[in-house]
Amino acid sequence: MRDPMSNTYPPTDAFAKTAHADAETYAKMYADSMADPDAFWGEHGKRIDWIKPYSKVKNTSFAPGNVDIKWFEDGTLNVSANCVDRHVETRGDQTAIIWEPDDPNTTDAMHITYRDLQTSVSKMANILQDLGVSKGDRVVIYLPMIPEAAYAMLACTRIGAVHSIVFAGFSPDALGARINGCDAKVVITADHAPRGGRSTPLKSNADAALLHCKESVKCLVVKRTGEQTTWTDRDYSYNDMVLEADDYQKPVEMAAEDPLFILYTSGSTGQPKGVVHTTGGYLVYAAMTHEYTFDYHDGDVFWCTADVGWVTGHSYIVYGPLANGGTTIMFEGVPTYPDAGRFWEVCAKHKVNQFYTAPTAIRALMAAGPEWVEKHDLSDLKLLGSVGEPINPEAWNWYYNVVGKGNVPIVDTFWQTETGGHMLTPLPGATTLKPGAAQAPFFGVKPVVLDPQSGEEIHGNDVEGVLCIGDSWPGQMRTVWGDHERFEKTYFGDYAGYYFSGDGCKRDADGDYWVTGRVDDVINVSGHRMGTAEVESALVAHVKVAEAAVVGYPHDIKGQGIYAYVTLMNNEEPSEDLRKELEKWVRSEIGPIAKPDLIQWAPGLPKTRSGKIMRRILRKIAEDDFGALGDTSTLADPSVVEDLIENRMNKS
Ligand code: WTA
Repeated sequence: MRDPMSNTYPPTDAFAKTAHADAETYAKMYADSMADPDAFWGEHGKRIDWIKPYSKVKNTSFAPGNVDIKWFEDGTLNVSANCVDRHVETRGDQTAIIWEPDDPNTTDAMHITYRDLQTSVSKMANILQDLGVSKGDRVVIYLPMIPEAAYAMLACTRIGAVHSIVFAGFSPDALGARINGCDAKVVITADHAPRGGRSTPLKSNADAALLHCKESVKCLVVKRTGEQTTWTDRDYSYNDMVLEADDYQKPVEMAAEDPLFILYTSGSTGQPKGVVHTTGGYLVYAAMTHEYTFDYHDGDVFWCTADVGWVTGHSYIVYGPLANGGTTIMFEGVPTYPDAGRFWEVCAKHKVNQFYTAPTAIRALMAAGPEWVEKHDLSDLKLLGSVGEPINPEAWNWYYNVVGKGNVPIVDTFWQTETGGHMLTPLPGATTLKPGAAQAPFFGVKPVVLDPQSGEEIHGNDVEGVLCIGDSWPGQMRTVWGDHERFEKTYFGDYAGYYFSGDGCKRDADGDYWVTGRVDDVINVSGHRMGTAEVESALVAHVKVAEAAVVGYPHDIKGQGIYAYVTLMNNEEPSEDLRKELEKWVRSEIGPIAKPDLIQWAPGLPKTRSGKIMRRILRKIAEDDFGALGDTSTLADPSVVEDLIENRMNKS
């Protein structure tokens, strides 16, 4: 009998017939996008409205020492005009955003039309202007998943300010670093952020962060729960100001290559870096991928469960769907609150057509049992999507059979904060699906597999190596905020002439791509990127810690868990209390998502004679893979490894 995991699923005739692209269309469009990118994107760039149309399309170089990326460079446009105003003329009464609160028993969902959105975005833009924000200034957004988060993003784009969203789960320290990192003029926050029945005191976190920032930074506070907060001279009440604000604010004209937003993300070294996306190319790419990958049609209700604090929320809650005149859901809560049926209850309630979530959520809900899904009417679903990490075939099959009832395609989308939109993904009307594979390049994307040692391109099928991209696409990040050299070094320094993703991949016998995970010191915890160096520097900042090394290990629900080896200062004794103290410490330094799952006390760390920590060995121990420790002969003190193996933490 065939292994059910190796089943493949061709598109149904009915789906392919109405899809934006069937197999033939995809093949032709992809070939066109490779043969003549200027002609291809010159045409598809017209999907958005330009104030001054572009005459140049692609002007990009990956050349060592001269990485320079420009798309549509002489065109001008405004993003909020594209995501809001142009739809008011044609579909003003259509719902743009459905807001679904954390607790459905105490708060009602909200339906915000394109007309309402224009007013709210204008008012927010007017408020920001009153606070002294103008074109090119930076605004940090530290909000729960409430409509004001979308208003704030779009308001920034309306007046040409650059937003930098900080996920509400980040600590005051992380927030402060990001405010200072981009020299923001204003921080927008809320009193509290309810999530999963608990509440985070965002305003007091912002206060703590602002202690370390310039006095001139202003804080705009949105009322979410109405809980008491302290009030300082730098604070302004959104709820008061909105009563007086003008309800129309004219969108400003922006050049295609003006920065649109900064989003901090983790890398293999140092502190997180500010990924910069620009106005024209990003919007074209977010809109086009949203339409084709999800086969989004007019009138569909689209739900991406991410948070706007991550790139997925930027591209597929706000910019892509709204540029397409879609209806998008903004969800404040978590998959398991009030119960494990929440996702499916929301799908049924709002008649969701396309549903997009992360494998970690799928695995958690799979563990809760099929009965939570079966209670709800999911007959409006036409497509399911996955993002954030490789999806294991068991989770894929459960998603396909239990949630999709074996009737709807799954798109496993591989992409990154840096790429702006999907890079590898099945197209639902075109691709024969393989569980666990991101499969095929989106239009304009040229994936290449390189030999990690020689850097040579590996041609042909049934091969494995590191995943690079051979040429630019419109959604590509342009630089690291304030540090172009770091941009070049990080993404173009390892393999000259290529964008290096940091991921490994296989190209199978049919030419389909399978992303196998990071090959650098970045780990993926519940679909969130985490630099092991960041967790290490938080740990060593504790007075009792002498040294720390952090690696990932396989985790049933999270995909990867955080495994920390900690060497204490000479006079310190390990204890359960100290373990808890360190967990709490990391939570407060970075945020709850960075809390180590396992901390092992390490009298010493395996090092080479030149003092370099041998992470390969630490990774193997954390993975319980002692047989494959490899060459340990270069270790300064091999007995360290025996101790670590003997005292490894139990993962159950
Ligand atoms: C991983 C999230 C396999 C990958 C949009 C990448 C994936 C990192 C997939 C980017 C997928 C994301 N299959 N791996 N479908 N999607 N990844 O920047 O390691 O938060 O480099 O962007 O997530 O994470 P980021």
